[in-house]
Amino acid sequence: MDVPLLDLKAQYRSVKAEVDAAIAEVMESQHFILGPVVERCERAVARYSSCAFGVGMSSGSDALLACLMAENIGPGDEVVTSAYTFFATVGAIARLGARPVLVDIDPGTYNIDPAAIEEKITSRTRAIVPVHLFGQMADMDAVTTLARKHGLVVIEDAAQAIGAEYHGRRAGSFGDYGCFSFFPSKNLGAAGDGGMVVTNDGERAERLRILRAHGSRPKYYHRVVGGNFRLDALQAAVVSAKLPHLDAWTAARQRNANRYNRLFADAGLTANGAAAIGLPAVVADRHIFNQYVVRVPRRDDLKSALQARGVGTEVYYPVPMHLQPCFEALGYRRGAFPESERAATDTLALPVYPEVTDAQAQYVVESIAEFVAGAPAVAANTVAAAR
Ligand SMILES: Cc1ncc(COP(=O)(O)O)c(C=O)c1O
Repeated sequence: MDVPLLDLKAQYRSVKAEVDAAIAEVMESQHFILGPVVERCERAVARYSSCAFGVGMSSGSDALLACLMAENIGPGDEVVTSAYTFFATVGAIARLGARPVLVDIDPGTYNIDPAAIEEKITSRTRAIVPVHLFGQMADMDAVTTLARKHGLVVIEDAAQAIGAEYHGRRAGSFGDYGCFSFFPSKNLGAAGDGGMVVTNDGERAERLRILRAHGSRPKYYHRVVGGNFRLDALQAAVVSAKLPHLDAWTAARQRNANRYNRLFADAGLTANGAAAIGLPAVVADRHIFNQYVVRVPRRDDLKSALQARGVGTEVYYPVPMHLQPCFEALGYRRGAFPESERAATDTLALPVYPEVTDAQAQYVVESIAEFVAGAPAVAANTVAAAR
């Protein structure tokens, strides 16, 4: 049996008519950059995220970069964020010449450890960038309380968390800015790169609109230096066509996560012990499961064994930010963030996309159970292949 980590073709089959029609409409209009289709998408995503404004961006990475630029963050400034995230979070800070100040994660949620943030705040700190990793929101009460106390900007990296909720409120609506990614593997994916910033602050939204067009306002007059961070209409059309399906997809991902939890428990794999599977901790109201990540014994061997059985998995992420060669100058050493380092060595993402079937989920758990029991999972596959 094949269980890929993600099957975008299965999703496309279910929305093909709507997506194809939306793309055709843009092709007929020949209006590709910003324009009415992008504005419609901005309004829809902002509404979905309980925010007043949406500003379409060329990617989640550029969304983060533009928010930092909108706050004039640069050399001499410090920005506090998680040591365990996708590179873009920290890369955006570093690209502007500001200093990323890293904080370890909570071992249950993999999100920034709220108790470890305040000691990192100095007179140079300008912003906090909490990351809602894997689709579950960070402890935003703690983050916003600290931000208010120290006068800091909050930029939510909600790239993996559109529609996630914390205390009944949506991702992106807590901070001064919320950044989404429409990278195809995200829960709401475009047909290429795309992103958006949501905000409740009209002035900040306007600054972002100017920055995404090279700082131009009016056209060809530049008071600030921006970039080309525009969302294109084809991507906006795909995102808008998919958005009405997002809640059903989220529900299916949650069902899949709960089913894995149950299957692991039924297989006796969640009991304490060296071979136990560590299930994801769900503490926020609405985890949207962009990824279902478990702690496993002998992670790399398990990954290979699963691959040999046709099960796709991924390591998000093998190297925490403080150990990336490009950040060596920040002066962090191995051991600085033990939970981030532990997560990098013993976690694995399993297929949780909406269309995963009961039989596929059972196969994944059986395959893991065989590995844990030391059964010849790879050998079985070799026999099958030899037939
Ligand atoms: C946590 C996080 N931040 C930022 C990004 C960057 O988004 P993009 O790939 O759209 O540039 C991603 C997605 O890849 C992400 O997962």
